[in-house]
Amino acid sequence: MVIVYESKTGFTKKYAEMLAEKTGLKTLPTSEISKVNQDAEIIFLGWLKAGKIQGLNKVRKYNLIAVCGSGTARRAEPSTEAVIARNKLEGIPFFYLRGGCLPLKEIKGMDKVLLSMFLWILKSRRDKDEETEEAIEIIENGFDGVKEENLEPVLQWLKTR
Ligand SMILES: Cc1cc2nc3c(=O)[nH]c(=O)nc-3n(C[C@H](O)[C@H](O)[C@H](O)COP(=O)(O)O)c2cc1C
Repeated sequence: MVIVYESKTGFTKKYAEMLAEKTGLKTLPTSEISKVNQDAEIIFLGWLKAGKIQGLNKVRKYNLIAVCGSGTARRAEPSTEAVIARNKLEGIPFFYLRGGCLPLKEIKGMDKVLLSMFLWILKSRRDKDEETEEAIEIIENGFDGVKEENLEPVLQWLKTR
């Protein structure tokens, strides 16, 4: 069994390394997927972009046994069910991990454009609830939600196998 991850700004990588430390499994980025044996079981961790788990397509043809998606929201956005459907994960255990993000001014390219649009949508909401206010703050100032305890459901699931 091996842990494979796709991470752009490092938060998902931190989870992959934490999980490797806790389980003794090897971890490697999707860029090195060719080193993985086709039969080897893979736990995949990828970051969420507009509900799509980045890098997932690179590991699809491998022996994928579980998928973790990291995002900045408290819960999977737009919802766990939507993420499972949008990423065609029916039948594969899915775990949401709260990751983090850099302050908007440190994000570059198309990601910055997309996130700026999202920020504008959030700010245009008339009745902003607590989660909306939090999302605005996180995008503008950055946030690190990576915690060992968030991996607990993954570790519990691994124990049952
Ligand atoms: C363009 C863009 C779109 C994003 N879309 C989502 C999303 O749909 N859901 C979510 O929870 N997080 C979303 N995020 C937040 C990232 O998934 C989150 O910051 C993740 O932990 C980053 O992981 P990384 O540091 O490994 O790249 C988005 C971030 C960017 C830059």
